[in-house]
Amino acid sequence: MNQAASITWKSRWTFILAATGSAVGLGNIWKFPYITGENGGGAFVLVYLACILCIGIPVMIAEIMAGRAGRSNPIHSMLSLSRDAGGSRAWGVVGAVGMVAGLMTMMFYSVVAGWALEYVFQSASGSYSGAPAEEIEAHFGNLLSSDGQQFIWHSLFSLLTASVVAAGVTRGIGKAVEILMPLLLIFLLLLVGYSAINGNFKAGLHFMFDTDFSRLSGNAVLIAMGHAFFTLSLGMGAIMAYGAYFPGHASIGKTVLTIAALDTGIALMAGMAMFPLVFANDLTPGQGPGLMFVTLPIAFSNMSGGVFFGSLFFALVSIAALSSSISLIEPGVAWMEKRGWRRVPSTFLLGGIAWAGGVASIHYGAVFDALDYLTANIMLPIGGLLIALFVSWRLPRKVVLDETGMKGGPAFAAWYWLLRYIAPIGILIVFLHSLGLFSALGALF
Ligand code: PFF
Repeated sequence: MNQAASITWKSRWTFILAATGSAVGLGNIWKFPYITGENGGGAFVLVYLACILCIGIPVMIAEIMAGRAGRSNPIHSMLSLSRDAGGSRAWGVVGAVGMVAGLMTMMFYSVVAGWALEYVFQSASGSYSGAPAEEIEAHFGNLLSSDGQQFIWHSLFSLLTASVVAAGVTRGIGKAVEILMPLLLIFLLLLVGYSAINGNFKAGLHFMFDTDFSRLSGNAVLIAMGHAFFTLSLGMGAIMAYGAYFPGHASIGKTVLTIAALDTGIALMAGMAMFPLVFANDLTPGQGPGLMFVTLPIAFSNMSGGVFFGSLFFALVSIAALSSSISLIEPGVAWMEKRGWRRVPSTFLLGGIAWAGGVASIHYGAVFDALDYLTANIMLPIGGLLIALFVSWRLPRKVVLDETGMKGGPAFAAWYWLLRYIAPIGILIVFLHSLGLFSALGALF
């Protein structure tokens, strides 16, 4: 069955929630705070925000537009748009590489989501209640050194993802996100409030918002840009695949602004919930992937009702991860369906491949790190670059104008300009910068 042709989201609002469901996930709550910590705070946050604004938002509009216009999975959408514009079939490769990137991302994403699941049960068992900070810190280390434990939780999360995708995306997800996303937002607000009262809020804010560019390396700039793609789910066709179900001819611009604002707001709130606790408990901001798993249980351990709130919070994080992980598998499944496969076997085949990769990244930390670095910092920006070039240089301007529903005007002009020039040049500059080319040139002259 070709779902894309007949099914659309219930309304523009459901699309917003589903796309936000894809965008908001571990990237916001787990990854953003810890990479901010590792890369020195303020200046990193500023580069990240600039990338969201000048590159992420324009590319997201382009991806949704391509998905809605092509009304199919990323490969077939790219192929048919390119054919109509008299372009080459090679553009289909953009969709194909995106699908592979999605599976590769899933290979470490579901491992981290597995950790979050473990924390649901750990919190519910009351083992953090009143526990000293060192003990909470040690628990995370123990989890990482137990391959068996990680294997179980990773497998459970993979199975959950596959079950939702197998049931069809529009049916389950549209409903679930309507309730869960607002709940997650409320929880984060509560945690920020808790941090403001009990943590060192001032030190946290200084760390996140004081900009000291001398502490920003070329690699940090690449990570900030890569994260802008990762957090908005761009460059791998996930948002394009969702765009295929975008209803009617509503304008895409406003929708994207809403999604990006929610996504960025949630990431900043996660940082504001964690860093004050880091400074109040003498933890290191640059401690890496364990940041969320150490700071938040410390907060919950001192809170009245912490057992309940802690388990509920980690459950919400796991669900946010689920609404993202399904969009990592969906593009590939939609493509296999179009090639005549049935949905259930396609899901379990692709989900199985991702699961096996996840087992490898549990056993070999280097595989985990390489998958994370390669997908977020290299594959997604290149995917985004090609999509930007395709929409703004290869498709006729008139088609783009019609398909975005933006009716010309200054907003359209600004977007088109950002997509044509700023996004591609920005991505290239960041790549060159991260290779150290500019400092090498600086040393020469
Ligand atoms: N945006 C998700 C997050 O921030 O957790 C991760 C993600 C989902 C990336 C889907 C890419 C993607 F296609």
